[in-house]
Amino acid sequence: MVVKADGLAAGKGVVVAETLAEAEAAVETILGGGLGAAGAEVVIEEFMAGEEASFFVLVDGETVLPIGTAQDHKRAFAGDTGPNTGGMGAYSPAPVMTPGVEQAALERIIRPTMAEMVRRGMPYRGVLYAGLMIEDGAPRLVEYNVRFGDPEAQVLMMRLGAQALDLMLACASGRLVEARVDWADDHALTVVLAANGYPGAYAKGSVIDGLDGLPETSREMVFHAGTERREGRWLAAGGRVLCATGRGASLAEAAERAYGLAGRIDWPEGFFRPDIGWRALGRDCLGR
Ligand code: GLY
Repeated sequence: MVVKADGLAAGKGVVVAETLAEAEAAVETILGGGLGAAGAEVVIEEFMAGEEASFFVLVDGETVLPIGTAQDHKRAFAGDTGPNTGGMGAYSPAPVMTPGVEQAALERIIRPTMAEMVRRGMPYRGVLYAGLMIEDGAPRLVEYNVRFGDPEAQVLMMRLGAQALDLMLACASGRLVEARVDWADDHALTVVLAANGYPGAYAKGSVIDGLDGLPETSREMVFHAGTERREGRWLAAGGRVLCATGRGASLAEAAERAYGLAGRIDWPEGFFRPDIGWRALGRDCLGR
């Protein structure tokens, strides 16, 4: 079963317990104050097998417009090992989200939820992120977030480009029924550079070199998440600090660009996973 802190815990409040003893220990840790106020209540859920994917839609109350799919890597270290994090990298589209799975998620999960919100007199307007578990081609809902994912937003934005602004405006002004997403047949992949020690304790203030000369194009971009500019230098100011992101005609091309950027960042106090996208790239779980 799965034990979760009911409050916001930056992706660190979930324990997948394989035995009853592990589940009990997780409940005790969370309720015992291990996660502060986020752990004032716990949620206990059935364990769902399958492959996880993130599905993003815009909703203006009535109309639901899919804007992309992604998969992230939650574990800190290569081979999907180590503690859970907010996400160490992501890629889009998610191969597991076939047109059939996407249609099933829309018809069986998202549209009925949105219709019920309308029926209750509180129509939802904004971005909706459905965390799905896909097993044997059937999606089940793990959770909804009323926000973009991090680092899923980085790969989505790389693929949507400037049309993201028009889509959000159409959403905010109730015109989604007229909106269309102009899909390119492309892929994007992002690699998170995190401070050594993350998701546990980490130091702030280390110097990051090599950022200023990096390309910023529609195919390569470094997103800053936790940096600070001081006296002309970039300093680390968070746990997940940078996202080196690439876009390409294939996922392999996107990965090559993202890792090309990550490799040029000179930050001995940081680390990144070498194997983002391993499953979709057909590599082994160490990225080889
Ligand atoms: N990357 C997972 C999330 O944003 O919740």
